[in-house]
Amino acid sequence: MSFNMVANHAIWPKVNDAIFGLAAKAKEAIDKYGREKVIDSTLGALVDDDGNLICLETVYSELKSLPNADIAAYAQVAGQPDFLEAVQKTCFKEYRPNAHIRAVATPGGTGSIRHSIYNYTNPGDSVLVCDWFWSPYVTISEEFGRTVSTFELFNEKGEFNIISFKEKFEELLKKQKRLVTILNTPANNPTGYSLSDEEWDEVLNIAKENAKNPENRIIFVVDVAYIDYAGIGMERRKFFTKFSNLPDNILIIVAHSMSKGYTMYGMRSGAAMGISSNKDIADEFYYSAMHANRANWSNGTRAAMSIMTNIAKDPEKTKAYEEEVNKTKTMLRNRAKAFVEASKEVGLEILPYRDGFFVSIPCSDAKKASEELIKENLFVIALKKGLRFAVCAVSEEKCRVSPAIIKKVLDNLEK
Ligand SMILES: Cc1ncc(COP(=O)(O)O)c(C=O)c1O
Repeated sequence: MSFNMVANHAIWPKVNDAIFGLAAKAKEAIDKYGREKVIDSTLGALVDDDGNLICLETVYSELKSLPNADIAAYAQVAGQPDFLEAVQKTCFKEYRPNAHIRAVATPGGTGSIRHSIYNYTNPGDSVLVCDWFWSPYVTISEEFGRTVSTFELFNEKGEFNIISFKEKFEELLKKQKRLVTILNTPANNPTGYSLSDEEWDEVLNIAKENAKNPENRIIFVVDVAYIDYAGIGMERRKFFTKFSNLPDNILIIVAHSMSKGYTMYGMRSGAAMGISSNKDIADEFYYSAMHANRANWSNGTRAAMSIMTNIAKDPEKTKAYEEEVNKTKTMLRNRAKAFVEASKEVGLEILPYRDGFFVSIPCSDAKKASEELIKENLFVIALKKGLRFAVCAVSEEKCRVSPAIIKKVLDNLEK
């Protein structure tokens, strides 16, 4: 082709999504060799031991009981008011920050991340994320002429690398005077790491110190896409209270998603929640996100909002829903435990895992390792710095045998 019809800013490499591509290959292998012979750890979705997508019964029976009009009608641009209340209750539980909070419905967590990046950075700015990150942060930033800078998530002791965070955070803030930092915690994708409450204190202390300069605008996007699968009880939500009484020039945006917690990946629902000590800043967040909703997708999926609202309003339904999520969470913890223990037994180095859908294995040539593992019928995603194994998609039994297969392939590559 000798010329482009697409305008310059919208020309991108002609590539298909790598994760969905590998998932398709895994499916081919299953059809050819049988499910028992294949380990498909590609997609970030909960799959039962027989390879079927887990769809929460409490969620889908609620969907099927909705009147047609409640599915068909437009939702309000900012989201249905009762949903905007329900999502705050569901997300913060007893740890609601003492602050002004405004919520706007978005199509999944992706929509909240899009609004946070676009509405709170200037063209050419860098967004700060850790070096083990969800790649759409880059896709979204690039779409709007922003870039992504990284800090190292772990120090050599395998702890949260607060020194690297501080260095990058202050460097970018000094240059830009406004900075959006995305922290995907608890249950980080791809490592399964969750910041401890003490680590949160350290991060916020650095932010508060820098907030003393009134020219600085500090925005944290807390991507909680996997929060419903973190911790045993509610302990992984405690950090929300730390967002109380922050200086006015620190804004927190919680990016909430219904994709994982409600197994509603394709129904596209979630919310962006702006948290500030200053009412005007929280209102400003709301109106700017509402404008962005109208400009991008007009309004969200009404049925998805009604499902959360109806479950949250009815104590019986809430109890049944929570029991179902807890059952799934226990299954996930058992799988992850099997993978972590087996890694230890065979001497496979993995990154510190706390919660969630994924475990990561650092390695120097992840692409090659992933290709070699395909030959063993083990399908695992190659990232820049390692491999991502999706415990959410693999049975406990297969989680127990996978580390030995991966270790053998990595050892062979090093020879
Ligand atoms: C780290 C992370 N953030 C956010 C999301 C948001 O997903 P969705 O837009 O489906 O809510 C995902 C989904 O894979 C994710 O892995």
